[in-house]
Amino acid sequence: MHTTPPFTLLDSPNWADYELLDSGDGLKLERFGAYTFARPEAQAMWSRALPQKIWDSAHAVFQPSAEESGGHWLEKTKLPERWEMKYDLTPNLSPKGRGESLRFWAMTTPGRHLGVFPEVAAHWDWMAGLTQKANRPVNALNLFGYTGIASLALAAAGAKVTHIDASKKSVSWGRENQSASKLDGASIRWIVDDALKFVERESRRGVKYDGIVLDPPKFGRGPKGEVWEVYKSLPDLLSACRSVLSDSPLFVALTVYAVRASALHVGQAVEEMMKPFGGVVDRGELVTREKSAGRLLSQAVFARWQGK
Ligand SMILES: C[S@@+](CC[C@H](N)C(=O)[O-])C[C@H]1O[C@@H](n2cnc3c(N)ncnc32)[C@H](O)[C@@H]1O
Repeated sequence: MHTTPPFTLLDSPNWADYELLDSGDGLKLERFGAYTFARPEAQAMWSRALPQKIWDSAHAVFQPSAEESGGHWLEKTKLPERWEMKYDLTPNLSPKGRGESLRFWAMTTPGRHLGVFPEVAAHWDWMAGLTQKANRPVNALNLFGYTGIASLALAAAGAKVTHIDASKKSVSWGRENQSASKLDGASIRWIVDDALKFVERESRRGVKYDGIVLDPPKFGRGPKGEVWEVYKSLPDLLSACRSVLSDSPLFVALTVYAVRASALHVGQAVEEMMKPFGGVVDRGELVTREKSAGRLLSQAVFARWQGK
């Protein structure tokens, strides 16, 4: 008998430095630290709840251009080049872990993002909790790691971390976030590489990981122009990831943005990958609750596995 798997709407309610203030009419209004930003959000197919004057007071507005994800920020008030933000991990990691507060730099970027995807904080808490509870050395791999906040969460919980991203700029940003978080003594290898090539190389070397986080974009390029296309490339990457898992892995977390893939499909892909290990797969959407009217905005689909 086949059963329909449960579906989770996973939110990240523990933010102090981030808020989704309002959404609607194809836009979202958010606070990152002391500053507010208006960005396109195509799926906000309802009306804004806050008055126009609040939207007009945003420090910067993203003006999209014709090409996909192109555009620029229009600053209405002079913003600092970058500013620090903080996230307190929910499992209280002191005194066992290395710290409980993640600190990182935010800034506006041409790709309309600000250096942090706040909706994935639920994964940071989950991975940090599993790492700490394991009570053994944990070797973790963060693929498509961007500015490294998941790497910091894992390191704060005591894991040895390998962080992979194709962009030199994101990797240096990650290193600066490591210092901002006062995790300089933690073991994080920051590597600029193509995710699939790196995992295949690790597999040949016989390196094993206890936990893997993957946050792939829809399209991307490795540092040598390697093409990443989520539907075509993900099956090979998941199977390469399986070959580098230790005998008793702790977790695998996959998040996919801006694609039509349903959480059911990414869940089934992770289930197939992790079948030999038993454990459980949770799948669903990463959501953010809006402050103005309490509506939920779905940001990405995810599937995550944990050992029993
Ligand atoms: C921004 S994050 C993920 C956030 C979110 N999933 C999204 O799509 O917007 C995606 C990261 O993947 C990196 N990336 C893209 N293609 C890659 C590849 N082939 N190998 C490693 N990293 C890659 C980018 O540099 C970027 O930092």
